Amino acid sequence: MFNSSKFIEEKVKELKDRIKGNTIIGVSGGVDSTTAAILVNKAIGERLKSVLVDTGYMRKNEIENNSRMLKKLGLTLLVVDAKERFYKKMEGVADPEKKRKIIGELFIRVFEEIARKEDARYFVQGTIAPDWIESGGGLRDKIKSHHNVGGLPDKIGFEIIEPLKDLYKDKVRKLSHELGLPSEIYSRQPFPGPGLAVRVIGETTHHNIQIVREACFIVEEEIDRAVENKKIQQPWQYFAALLPVKSVGVHGDKRSYANIITVRVVDSIDAMSGSYTKLPHHLLEKISVRITNTLKDNVNRVLFDITNKPPGTIEYE
Ligand code: XMP
Repeated sequence: MFNSSKFIEEKVKELKDRIKGNTIIGVSGGVDSTTAAILVNKAIGERLKSVLVDTGYMRKNEIENNSRMLKKLGLTLLVVDAKERFYKKMEGVADPEKKRKIIGELFIRVFEEIARKEDARYFVQGTIAPDWIESGGGLRDKIKSHHNVGGLPDKIGFEIIEPLKDLYKDKVRKLSHELGLPSEIYSRQPFPGPGLAVRVIGETTHHNIQIVREACFIVEEEIDRAVENKKIQQPWQYFAALLPVKSVGVHGDKRSYANIITVRVVDSIDAMSGSYTKLPHHLLEKISVRITNTLKDNVNRVLFDITNKPPGTIEYE
């Protein structure tokens, strides 16, 4: 049995002994990085600065909501707007692993710049076990380079600390509960570091990121509402992705030729395997109608993904 209070006690001591200077942490507001930030904050207090990078691939209103929440938790927060840098580097890139490598590398370059300014020698990441296992650590084949592991460049200008490296999500959630984080954080669905960039299949543009951002918002809002009304249990993850194909449709009495959105909803315990959630059809229909109405100039068809993991992964890239 995982003893979260013992884990906290031991980790805080270990971090106190190891960290000898200024430190920065990359936070997104998700459960992993926020839990890591609170843990390190407990160990070194003022010497920790939390950095939230706006990659341009975050969900609707996420930067504003997460910064408010992180500050409320008592963290010293720096928000860095790197949207244009990410968009520029990703221009013309369609290969999933290349996209992940570019994002991982740029994240680190941004953190290096901040570390220099803050005179920080240590960089903390909220990496958890599936991140490095799926990135080809251990005995497993590389499935995909998680932004915080396989996407890292060889030369890095600071020492990396990963206090949650050996834990799976269920343990991290227990830990965050024990640390007194609000349910808004520990019950939150996972969101990948490369964000919406891996939810636009193939090449990303400012335009198609906006489309998938709106579609993800609709999926989340409809499913959250169904959970709140006790119509369904909260799935592990629920989102939309934009496929790089167009199909013919009809809108009013006019022909349309527009993109396809796929809706992915998955139940899982640790993200290593999962099954697609058997959502009620009326909820699926609500999601589909709302997406095609809201995004009518760009999307004319919505698919529901009925693939388990394996063989599909949770994200598409
Ligand atoms: P897959 O798609 O491999 O994802 O089945 C397993 C879990 O990991 C999340 N994921 C990531 N998380 N950085 C992260 O922090 C990443 O690069 C990344 N890629 C995938 C995914 O959303 C799922 O919960």
